Amino acid sequence: MDKPKVVLGVSGGIAAYKACELLRRLTESGHDVRVVPTASALHFVGAATWSALSGNPVSTEVWDDVHEVPHVRIGQHADLVVVAPATADILAKAAHGLADDLLTNTLLTARCPVVFAPAMHTEMWEHPATQENVATLRRHGAIVIEPAVGRLTGVDTGKGRLPDPTEIYAICRRVLSRGITEPDLKGRHVVVSAGGTREPLDPVRFLGNRSSGKQGYALARTAAARGARVTLIAANTGLPDPAGVDVVQVGTAVQLREAVLKAAPDADAVVMAAAVADFRPQTYAAGKIKKKDGQDPEPIVLVRNPDILAEISAERARPGQVIVGFAAETDDVLANGRTKLERKGCDLLVVNEVGERKTFGSEENEAVVLGADGTETPVSHGPKEHLAETVWDLVAERLG
Ligand code: CTP
Repeated sequence: MDKPKVVLGVSGGIAAYKACELLRRLTESGHDVRVVPTASALHFVGAATWSALSGNPVSTEVWDDVHEVPHVRIGQHADLVVVAPATADILAKAAHGLADDLLTNTLLTARCPVVFAPAMHTEMWEHPATQENVATLRRHGAIVIEPAVGRLTGVDTGKGRLPDPTEIYAICRRVLSRGITEPDLKGRHVVVSAGGTREPLDPVRFLGNRSSGKQGYALARTAAARGARVTLIAANTGLPDPAGVDVVQVGTAVQLREAVLKAAPDADAVVMAAAVADFRPQTYAAGKIKKKDGQDPEPIVLVRNPDILAEISAERARPGQVIVGFAAETDDVLANGRTKLERKGCDLLVVNEVGERKTFGSEENEAVVLGADGTETPVSHGPKEHLAETVWDLVAERLG
């Protein structure tokens, strides 16, 4: 089978260096990538880098290799065009159909999905001209990813950072496999918890678990791609923020509960993918616990943490709110799942089998989604995004 053909457009912003990592990910996962930088992009990263990393020739102008009609061919043959970083200038040109170099010509001739990952200073992003250009591009069917918030080129911070290349890559992968889909969660607010809580014993030690947070992040990313406003409550994941998602960082189960209860009243759906510690140490030692020669260690006394899923299911913050739980089981997976669904009182329970080499930290998952209405939806082994899509299909059905 032919490799999917991706055009990576790079415009002239400092974040061009991050596009090298996106290029690497695309080529390593079997895509044939043609890099089309603008002339200004080459001030930041040279043609030799793009050419070496992509294995393809690189030019910025329509006047190179004219016999191959590159200004038309490259766009016509692409399966996906992704522009990262996309400056205010390239967004303006693309929105208005200007075609004065190879990238802008490619954008006009491409009939495949087009993704823009903008990166610029906050003022430029917020300018009405840019916002109108973004709206125009979206109306034309392009995906324009929301920039991230954080450190910009200089010492200033704000909205306008290029999202992490792994997140841009994940969006490209979704578009390549599904095309541009209906935003069926548009107008919805969803809350997703992810990761594993840590219950501190002293300033340097904690009780934790093996949850990586990848399934919760896949849920957040997928909901955003389907048009939802997403609040992601992340416990100790260390993962880059998904693009266009509001991330709230928490540490312990008690902090996770607070964050969920704060976000839930406004949510159409809450998905509890986080591995919440059922117990926490009764006491927290303000100083590091020391071993004492000739003495046995003090036992650790544990107390119960609140069950957040059971609590939000029992006291629904909104009528019609859909609540989804996860069950990590090592034995009697389905039977335990059914009992847990009833005990927690949620609408859907994603049951998966876990073990040292299963699920935790892996990129893939396999599960059965049990419905309180008696339904059972198996999800075959595959990327965590695949399970996430099924969960949102089931949530969307229930939201009507
Ligand atoms: N959960 C929660 N609050 C807790 C514990 C778990 O909200 N204190 C949520 C998790 O986010 C998950 C679901 O409950 O969605 C199932 O968690 P799990 O730990 O598998 O179930 P438990 O209730 O702990 O049952 P058991 O210990 O018997 O496996």
